[in-house]
Amino acid sequence: MQVILAESAGFCYGVKRAVELAQKTAEETKGCWMLGDLIHNAHVVEELRSAGIGKTEDPAALRHGDTVIIRSHGERRDVLEALAAKGVRMVDAACPNVTRIQKLAAKAGEEGRTFVLIGEARHPEVMAIASYCPGTVVLDGPEAAETWLREDPSRRDLPLTAAAQTTCIREIFETSLKILKKECTNVEFFDTICNATHKRQSEAAELASQVDVMVVVGDRKSANTKHLTEICSRQCPAVYQIERAEELKRDFLTGCSVAGLTAGASTPAGIIKEVYTTMSEEIKTMEPTEESFEEMLEKSFKTL
Ligand code: F3S
Repeated sequence: MQVILAESAGFCYGVKRAVELAQKTAEETKGCWMLGDLIHNAHVVEELRSAGIGKTEDPAALRHGDTVIIRSHGERRDVLEALAAKGVRMVDAACPNVTRIQKLAAKAGEEGRTFVLIGEARHPEVMAIASYCPGTVVLDGPEAAETWLREDPSRRDLPLTAAAQTTCIREIFETSLKILKKECTNVEFFDTICNATHKRQSEAAELASQVDVMVVVGDRKSANTKHLTEICSRQCPAVYQIERAEELKRDFLTGCSVAGLTAGASTPAGIIKEVYTTMSEEIKTMEPTEESFEEMLEKSFKTL
């Protein structure tokens, strides 16, 4: 039995950059803040808090002269404007891929186009992007796209600019886009699924199709981890999403000869290693050893 670890599992460029920026800011200041979770991983957020970075969900709690690190998912435009007006110093740790979509949204707004974002309406990245273009339409997939067009047929003639949340499942984005392009008269689109997401999703799908059991490690709040789990579930009948090695159960690996392991873009290497080691040890203890075979023989002699 063996455990195969996906090559791309773990921190992506944007998350690594955000964490490094936060650590550097903590060293340079005598106390700074993060507004919401810097990245979607509770373990990393706790480590940053221990390094002296306070966490608040409320922008009103920040005062003139404070330093705040803007999270990797970006922040709403009105919040950033209010903080700047108040004299709060901002360190921008938003992933450049997210910032690019915010700019596309703002440009669409300036040109009088309706911005259509394929993603999850309640995700902080999506809420931040939507704030750059009033009237942004967020659709979570092809069915939502069809419903939106059916509700008001005049929407077919709107000038639309479509893009995707950075962590969107490619198939969902492409199918939704196909509907918009087929039904509407004026659609421009941008493929804004980030490379890190694309690579992790394709690798996870391939690995999941070759193994008996697939384990996905990541925070339950993490959108990209959730999507990896969904993608793996299409290829492999036994998929488990966990946050830490302690959540691994022996049953997960029963009857399995090859297990796959991948992780979301915000899962630190230490946690992946912990899970990998635990899985490998579990597998070892499940394999019949020479001693146990001899013991079994001895037992059967005794019975005889
Ligand atoms: Fe950025 Fe993509 Fe990571 S958007 S934060 S590189 S998952």
